[in-house]
Amino acid sequence: MRKWLWMAALFSAAAGAADVPQMSSGYTFAQKDGKALYAASCQGCHMAKGEGARGAGFYPKLAGNPLVQSPEYIVFRVANGYRGMPAFAGMMSDEQIAAVTTYVRQSFAKPDAPATTVEDVRKLRQQ
Ligand code: HEC
Repeated sequence: MRKWLWMAALFSAAAGAADVPQMSSGYTFAQKDGKALYAASCQGCHMAKGEGARGAGFYPKLAGNPLVQSPEYIVFRVANGYRGMPAFAGMMSDEQIAAVTTYVRQSFAKPDAPATTVEDVRKLRQQ
């Protein structure tokens, strides 16, 4: 009897540990709004106003960056990642990638940039 109680305790402890959220391949962002997604997923590296950072690593600025004006370029980068930047395709839906890239382009690159569409994202997301 004692042995079974001990095993039940061990199993429930293991199940509890599995509930801890982790930034692994299974992680997905919950935010839907572009600004909230930026704060949760980009700001840590590219800074609050898209000014970028240089220090232990190099995080290019997004503000005033002419490359960011092109929807294809930023969507491709966010979906597929590149060198020091993680790929977000597995962590964000097409709608979320469209929202966050629209936010970055309109807030930091070109205020009158047309919104990124879900179609744009679908075309550029690598399967
Ligand atoms: C873990 C840090 C990190 C996060 C998080 C991150 N990036 Fe990056 N990003 C980088 C690095 C590093 C590069 C430069 C990669 C290279 O060229 O070597 C980069 C490059 C870029 C570029 C290309 C800029 C250029 O001049 O070529 C864009 C656009 C970009 N990131 C947008 C975003 C957006 C939007 C998000 C959020 C969805 C994001 N990044 C999240 C680190 C990050």
